[in-house]
Order: sequence, then structure tokens, then C-alpha cells
Amino acid sequence: MNNAMNILGQKMNLFAASANVLVLPVFAGEANLAESVAERLPESLRKTALRLMKAHDFSAKPNEMMTIDVHDAAHHHVVIVGLGSAADATLETAREMIGAVVACARRLGARSIAVEIPVSDEGDVADVAEAMVVAAQLADYAFDTYKEKNGAKRMKEMTLVIKEGRDVLRVRRAVERGCAIAGGVAVARDLVNMPAQVMTPSALAEAAERIVKEAGKNFSLKVLDRAECEALGMGSYVAVGNGSDEPLKFLHLTYMPERSTRKRLAVIGKGVTFDSGGLSLKPGDGMMTMKCDMAGAAAVLGFFTVLGQLQPRCEVHGIVAAVENMPSGKAIRPGDVVKASNGKTIEILNTDAEGRLTLADALTYAKKLEPTAMVDLATLTGACVVALGEEITGLMSNNNDLAQAVLDSAEDAGEKMWRMPLEKRYRSLIESEIADLRNIPTSRYGGSLTAGLFLEEFVDGLPWVHLDIAGPAFAEKPMGSYLGKGGTGHGVRTLVELVERM
Ligand code: BES
Ligand code: MN
Ligand code: ZN
Repeated sequence: MNNAMNILGQKMNLFAASANVLVLPVFAGEANLAESVAERLPESLRKTALRLMKAHDFSAKPNEMMTIDVHDAAHHHVVIVGLGSAADATLETAREMIGAVVACARRLGARSIAVEIPVSDEGDVADVAEAMVVAAQLADYAFDTYKEKNGAKRMKEMTLVIKEGRDVLRVRRAVERGCAIAGGVAVARDLVNMPAQVMTPSALAEAAERIVKEAGKNFSLKVLDRAECEALGMGSYVAVGNGSDEPLKFLHLTYMPERSTRKRLAVIGKGVTFDSGGLSLKPGDGMMTMKCDMAGAAAVLGFFTVLGQLQPRCEVHGIVAAVENMPSGKAIRPGDVVKASNGKTIEILNTDAEGRLTLADALTYAKKLEPTAMVDLATLTGACVVALGEEITGLMSNNNDLAQAVLDSAEDAGEKMWRMPLEKRYRSLIESEIADLRNIPTSRYGGSLTAGLFLEEFVDGLPWVHLDIAGPAFAEKPMGSYLGKGGTGHGVRTLVELVERM
């Protein structure tokens, strides 16, 4: 669970730090690399370091590490870590580096790290510091609620060593920001990692209540139950919940900044707390990770946690149509027709295409708030994972400026996203014989695009971005050096960048 390490920014000499592991990041490309790295070490370590670097042909490739065991009282290890060439370095280089370092420190049994902030010519020390803080916290995350022995190997403290006195304040602010962002990502990861048996629609509503309360006076929450949703005409969303014994909960979180601006962002998260497929039941293997089908909702709640700390100038609405998709004698059947709150009828031909049914009403609700931009996050289609793999989000949009703003935000935040088209010619694939729309396309191909086109029917031309996070929301194997298995909180970091750009 969320038990973040303490992070400090200090102007000091790295080798004066009292941490268990002292980390010296180095760029590649220098002529006498080993010698120049050795010069940066205390006299007593130079010989050993030189011998080690020469013996292993150390060339400072990204994440290449040399560990020196220091046999003295205070510190136990010095780690020299490569960053590759300074010209190729990005913030992601720093994130990947610190992720590898945290893993190494954990293997060494260390509880504290001190590390220099590496800055290339174009880099900014505060940006690099923030990236390192976020990645270090994410790397140190563990979901161990259900383990007998928990918390044992977590890091206690990290000191970012600052070289220039004038950078101290900016770095300390970056540390605070980074911790706030990482805290929000951890909230999202916890929500995803919690089993569906406990993380029900009601539990999601309770989590939202806690978050809004903690965030303070500019925040509020409205929770609608089934009867209230029916009264609003949300026939599509409520139908998904028919088979479950868990009552559905529609969540509307609001953040009103102190000084109001004309910008209003709505973020909509898919909140299917478990997706069995319904009567169109998934095979056992396909169901194994389906507690992750509320990862979009988790990202929205994690994002709101960060909003509470950063208090940006843009008004934000968070919307989650939380529901469990189960088979039963009450469940919706293939062939049933439902009516969404915008008046459109939908023929449900596969109860496993339930995400779009919930989003139809969530988007309609969001639209009524007259946002200047809408972003939905949804573990929507397996087809998106086929198209882009497990680490990249599929982005679809009806607005080039907003699409670009989200892509730029994702790039800066270190989340991978790629735009896919809302191809009008494929629109005919979701036309129904007897209703306005069908919930699955008539072609097996381009499944993410037809899902995106389905959602577009509910946005009425408002600037909107759809993020299909089916791949990166849940890591079946570690995603790079700083995101381990399980829920990743994907989307939170991009949303934070985006809201500050609005
Ligand atoms: N939640 C799934 C999509 C999913 C698949 C998320 C794998 C994460 C990993 C979604 O509700 C679903 O079942 N989609 C179907 C749509 C199909 C029936 C048109 C799918 O992708 O197979
Ligand atoms: Mn499904
Ligand atoms: Zn689903």
C-alpha cells in the first residue's frame, strides 16, 4: 500500500551523505570515461573504481551499473550508473535510471539513497528532479496488503544532491510536486490492485468520498444510485449492472478552483469493477485480470488526489459510471435493446462490449456540464492491445488541438500514447438493423476504432479525447525499470500535465 519514502533536496557533496547507497549517474561519450569518473570519487575509492570500470568495460550505457562495496562505517555502497549519451537523454532516461537504482538498492538491502541530479545541456534541474522523484516513488511501490510480512523492503529516504545553491528552492518544489503526483498514481494502483471482491462500485464510491474529503473545501462529490440514474434516462449504463448483486454507483467529483477560469475539463473513467463478460462470458484466462477494468476510474480518482495538492487553475469534473458486469437470470441478453440518456437506442449483441455502454451515459452526463474539453480513459478493447502492444495507449479524438495537447502531456509525463483514426467509413460497421447503434461491429477488424466511433456518438462534437488504456493499465510483466507488475496508474501523470496546460 501507499507508504511513500521521504525525499529531500540538499546542496551538498554526494560523498558527505549518510545514505546506505550513494549514486553517481554519468553520461557516456567522454574520451577517458573511467578516469574522469574516478576523479569524481573520493581518493580512497579511485583505485577500486578504476579497476572495476576497466575490467567491465564500463561505457555508461543507460542503466549500466557498477557497484562498489565501501568498507567503512557510514555508507555501504557506491553505485556508478550510466545514462547513455547526453545528447539522447530525456526525462525518461532519468526515470529509467532511478528505477534501476532503486531496484539495485533494494537488492542490497538498503533503506536510503543519495543521488546526484544529472543534467544535460538542454535539461532543467527541477524537471529532472521531479521526474526522478516520481519514478523513484513508483519503483518503490508495493501492493502487499495481503502478504503476511509486508513493507519489509521499502525504501525510507532518498536525498537528491543539488550542485548549485541557486537551484535549491526550485528542486525542493519539484520534490513536493513529484511526491504529490506519485501519491496520486499510487492511489490509482491500489484501487486497481485491490480484488474485485472488495473494490466494488460501492467501495469505489467510498474511495471517492475519502479523496474528496481529504482534498479540501474546493472539492465535492455527488453519488447517484440506480433509481437516480434511471430517472436521468441512463438505460445503457444501468443495463450493464442488471446481472450483478452489487449495486451500481454513478460518481461525479468536482474541483472548483479559488479563482474561476473559463476552462472546464471533464475526465471520464471506465469503472467496471469486474468484467466477467456477462452472458457473453469470457473464458477463464480472459477473466483473470478483469479486476483491472476500473483502471480508468482509478486514474480519475488518483488524478483528483493530485488536484487536491496542486490546486491548478482549471475547473475539473471527474465522472465514473461504476458497475459490475456479471451473468445471471437478471442479466442483459444478446439481442436486447437499451436506450441511452441522449435518446439513442443500442442493440446489445455482445454483453462483453459493456464499457461503451457505460461510457455512453457517462459521456452524455459530462456533456451537460458544458466542459471545454473531455477526456475519457477506458480499458475498452483487447484489439487495442493487439494493435499497440501492452505499453501504449490508443488515443482517438475529434479535435486536433486537444489530441496534440494530450500527446504532448503524455510525452512529458513519461506515458506512451499513440493516435489512431476515427475513420468515418467504418461508422457503418456499428449500424444496427433494428436500433440506432449496435454495441459490437459487424467486422472483426479495427475493433478499437469502431469502439471509438461508438463513443463519438455521445460527444456531440465537443472537444474530446478517448484513451484506450487496455494495454498499459495493468502490467502482466514489469513495464520498464520503474513500474512493476499489476496496476500502473496509467493516465494520472498525463492528466496532471494536461490540466496545467489548459
Ligand atoms: N474490458 C474489456 C477489454 C480488455 C481486454 C481490457 C483486455 C483489458 C485487457 C472489454 O470490456 C471487452 O471485453 N471488450 C471486448 C469487446 C468485443 C466484445 C467487441 C474485447 O475486446 O474483446
Ligand atoms: Mn467486456
Ligand atoms: Zn470491460
